[in-house]
Amino acid sequence: VAADGTRVFDLRMRAGTTEFKDGQETPTWGFNGSYLGPTLRAERGEKVQVRVRNALGVPSNVHWHGMDLPARMDGGPHRMIAPGKTWSPRWTIAQPAATLWYHPHPHGETEDHVQRGLAGMFLLDDARSRALALPQRYGVDDLPVIVQDVKFDGARFDHGHGVAQSVGFLGDRTMVNGTLDPYRVVGDEQVRLRLLNASTARTYNFGFDDSRAFSLVGTDGGLVERPARMDRVQLSPGERAEIVVRVRPGERTVLRSYPLDVGMDFFNQRFNGGDDTFDILELRAASRLRPSPALPATLGKLEVPDGKDAVRGRFFDLKLSGINGRKMAMGRIDETVTRGTTETWTVRNTNGMPHNFHVHGVQFRVLSVNGRPPGPALRGAKDTVFVPNGTTVKLAMRFTGPADPNAPYMFHCHLLLHEDQGMMGQFVVV
Ligand code: C2O
Ligand code: CU
Ligand code: CU
Repeated sequence: VAADGTRVFDLRMRAGTTEFKDGQETPTWGFNGSYLGPTLRAERGEKVQVRVRNALGVPSNVHWHGMDLPARMDGGPHRMIAPGKTWSPRWTIAQPAATLWYHPHPHGETEDHVQRGLAGMFLLDDARSRALALPQRYGVDDLPVIVQDVKFDGARFDHGHGVAQSVGFLGDRTMVNGTLDPYRVVGDEQVRLRLLNASTARTYNFGFDDSRAFSLVGTDGGLVERPARMDRVQLSPGERAEIVVRVRPGERTVLRSYPLDVGMDFFNQRFNGGDDTFDILELRAASRLRPSPALPATLGKLEVPDGKDAVRGRFFDLKLSGINGRKMAMGRIDETVTRGTTETWTVRNTNGMPHNFHVHGVQFRVLSVNGRPPGPALRGAKDTVFVPNGTTVKLAMRFTGPADPNAPYMFHCHLLLHEDQGMMGQFVVV
């Protein structure tokens, strides 16, 4: 913490090697360490600064995914960090407690930089969430779960794309927090898992092998209004979910990913990951468990608009060939929004393949999916939403970032190959 009260973080992007498999060193990139990055954590109202040093030897950058902050600090493709240079954005945390994350965003190379290992969590806290009876001892009963799929060719990562894989890279095994075949010993009756899909293309359908129910307590932008019981939660690339699961002494249960509908015919469904099952993380309960309090019935009010005061609607047609028929152009601003106003954005995919939709600098509410109210997993604050083929979602959002006609925010498909291929556009707040 600096003299003026600013919380200062240091991140160094570097190349190295990581031993994922015994005796084999895999070339990787990481923040500070050789793979992934430290969990950053800050409090609502706090001033923060991150000093990001690029020691990779090639240009890259860092974006704060889900953060409500000025566009100049957001780390989009315009904010490149040259090799050997440091970029030090600062901002004030102006949003509720949430599980956010950070990753590079160099135009055309995001998939590659994330796959090499550049990603980390950025957790936000506030007084309201701290006062709730939720598991919140980090690393004890409150665990980051960064899920990625990988493929190895000997010691090295194999990042090749199959010809029928329109979604991009799909691995044949998964890691949690950079660990293969992970398990976790649990010492409390209830454990909170902060699930982050940090994979570049794969959508997961999480659930437990014994079909036990869990409580969804948070989505991308923070806590939901009330815990929702469910036995499956689906996350497309970039999305987060916080779940609380109860275990009994001495038992084991495995968090898995189950087949899901990617909105394609049966052949393409299979080649785009829809039929796959993975063991994600085994929980091994200790023989004696510390008692956990029952979850509160309500967690608070959402701070995302319900759309009733929307002054304008926009439409986005998702196609691999571009959004609204246009590929990303660094010099073109696609949309101009007015600071402090609410808008509805309608996003449609009839492209025959899965996409999702992510907006920088804002959290939104999902008003409808194909004209119907969203299911329980989409009733919280979101910044990324899955839009499989044949789906139209309607979103409500309010732009609070400071007006800056010269610094754009991005909106894009978070299947990173698609983003790199130009499924991205830019908006400014004026
Ligand atoms: Cu997580 Cu524009 O990205
Ligand atoms: Cu983002
Ligand atoms: Cu896409």
